[in-house]
Amino acid sequence: MQKKINIAIDGYSSCGKGTLAKALAKSLGYVFIDSGAMYRAVTLFMLREGVDVNDEDAVSLAMERVVVGFEKNAEQQSEVTLNGVSVESEIRNIEVASKVSEVAKIAVVRTKMVALQQAIGLNKGVVMDGRDIGTVVFPDAELKIFMTASQDVRAQRRFAELLAKGDDVTLEDIAKNLEHRDTIDANRENSPLTMTSDYRVLDNSHLDRDAQFALAMDWVETAIQGV
Ligand code: CDP
Repeated sequence: MQKKINIAIDGYSSCGKGTLAKALAKSLGYVFIDSGAMYRAVTLFMLREGVDVNDEDAVSLAMERVVVGFEKNAEQQSEVTLNGVSVESEIRNIEVASKVSEVAKIAVVRTKMVALQQAIGLNKGVVMDGRDIGTVVFPDAELKIFMTASQDVRAQRRFAELLAKGDDVTLEDIAKNLEHRDTIDANRENSPLTMTSDYRVLDNSHLDRDAQFALAMDWVETAIQGV
């Protein structure tokens, strides 16, 4: 049997990391983990409980009451759970997006999520996307991909996604949110988004899904051969 590897996909907000990660996991029979969904679930908890996300102590204390996990839905797709209940559809809105980077920069939040992510990756065969997967969560991942796309393309894509869901948002709101998150994510003290020399860079501004998948699968094959 072919050896299993871990694949880390990091990059800025809304540049298609999840789409690629899901496609790779499906084709390889690997587990797909959306680490951003975990930070979004924690943020949803704080919003529901009225915890001030700018108060690090309050968020850290509230974390004692948060259990994040994953479960399979009827279509066998994995959904993020908050205290045992799937919150997959509640976490993708602009309210959560507008606060998630404030929550994700808090050390206690990251320590708890990273421990969970590392436990999932112990047996290999995981494709995980996020901001710090190749640098902190799986520094030994056999393949690390850093995804980028132009700001316009990213905002347009997320706008279309939320419109299709029926959310009442403007392109301007989305563009501002992406810029806000990217600035915090790349400049925070704890595990900032950063690219090291062991990443392969995938700029998909002008690549469609099939082309980016084909490129990434080439890298996967090379990585597996190297194990
Ligand atoms: O899908 P999108 O690119 O909009 O973002 P996401 O992957 O759902 O992540 C939401 C937010 O969670 C990010 O903006 C980061 O603030 C945080 N995050 C993180 O800090 N570390 C990760 N490994 C993944 C997400």
